[in-house]
Amino acid sequence: MKALVTGAAGFIGSTLATALVDRGAEVVGIDCFTDYYAREIKESNLAALRERSSYRFVDARLQDVDFGPLLDGVTHVFHLAAQAGVRGSWGDQFLSYTSNNVDATQRLLEALKGHPLTRLVYASSSSVYGDVATIPMQETAYLQPLSPYGVTKLAAEHLCHLYCVNHGVPTVSLRYFTVYGPRQRPDMGFHRFIRAALTGEPITLFGDGEQTRDFTFVDDIVAATIAAGERGRPGGIYNIGGGSRVTINQVLAMIARVTGRPLDIRRLPAEKGDMRDTFADSSRAQADLGFSPSHSLEDGLKAECQWLAALLGRPLTA
Ligand SMILES: NC(=O)c1ccc[n+]([C@@H]2O[C@H](COP(=O)([O-])OP(=O)(O)OC[C@H]3O[C@@H](n4cnc5c(N)ncnc54)[C@H](O)[C@@H]3O)[C@@H](O)[C@H]2O)c1
Repeated sequence: MKALVTGAAGFIGSTLATALVDRGAEVVGIDCFTDYYAREIKESNLAALRERSSYRFVDARLQDVDFGPLLDGVTHVFHLAAQAGVRGSWGDQFLSYTSNNVDATQRLLEALKGHPLTRLVYASSSSVYGDVATIPMQETAYLQPLSPYGVTKLAAEHLCHLYCVNHGVPTVSLRYFTVYGPRQRPDMGFHRFIRAALTGEPITLFGDGEQTRDFTFVDDIVAATIAAGERGRPGGIYNIGGGSRVTINQVLAMIARVTGRPLDIRRLPAEKGDMRDTFADSSRAQADLGFSPSHSLEDGLKAECQWLAALLGRPLTA
């Protein structure tokens, strides 16, 4: 396998690239260090990878990179580059979402027309569902995203399907359900909650805390993504969920237990764009990809707590 990983300096992309190199693949990573969060965090995600002889990193934007040399000999593309984040996708910021999520994907797909490729795996999102799909969510559900972010993720998913049907690009879309674990983005819930617990700062919680999420540990996401690259059905779409549906209030109680620190929770009204509930029916991924999440929420949460505690130099007391 010679893999191109887009978004390779990010949370999931850097974890995926490391797993691919560990499995003996040759990997080219591309990332342009968007300013959504600090470049130094992304550089530290990349640090160990840069030492590996089978890894090469390219600092460039998908919107203007020369794909010719980048795709030379590439058998698999894992397309994770995106402007992430639901809440920031309203207003002027939307331009960043259309540019990085839609335009960049279309340009990558154009470049892949006629390129001999085993698979392109696209990192889609549970955000494409919105609040109308029944729980557990099935891939065939009616899609009505609640956020502008979800609209752009769905648009790119449709583009992948179009280029598969019309130009034979063997795309597979994976709808990731809330991903957590070491290297999680600093804007995401678990990261914010654990950091606040460790530093004793107040936690801002949007909504009543009774909203539910299907949290998926990053190593399970990586395993599903690699499996989709090997045997996903071209043109196929798969939910990838962790299999545990819990409320945010339950998560906060678990974080207090794992960190051994009480939480100071400040409640604010729910934000526009936030879905009420998510829960994946991952049976299609189980049947076609052999996907089965292998990390419990408690173990995964401990792994993220240990990573963040080490990063902040604040040992866990529990
Ligand atoms: N984290 C989650 O819970 C989650 C859930 C569903 C879907 N996803 C999807 O998974 C993917 C990875 O998410 P993440 O949480 O690792 O995000 P991340 O922000 O940590 O990583 C994305 C990376 O892409 C890079 N990037 C963005 N636009 C680019 C462009 N035009 N050219 C080159 N690089 C670019 C950014 O600099 C960043 O390093 C995204 O596509 C996201 O939409 C994530």
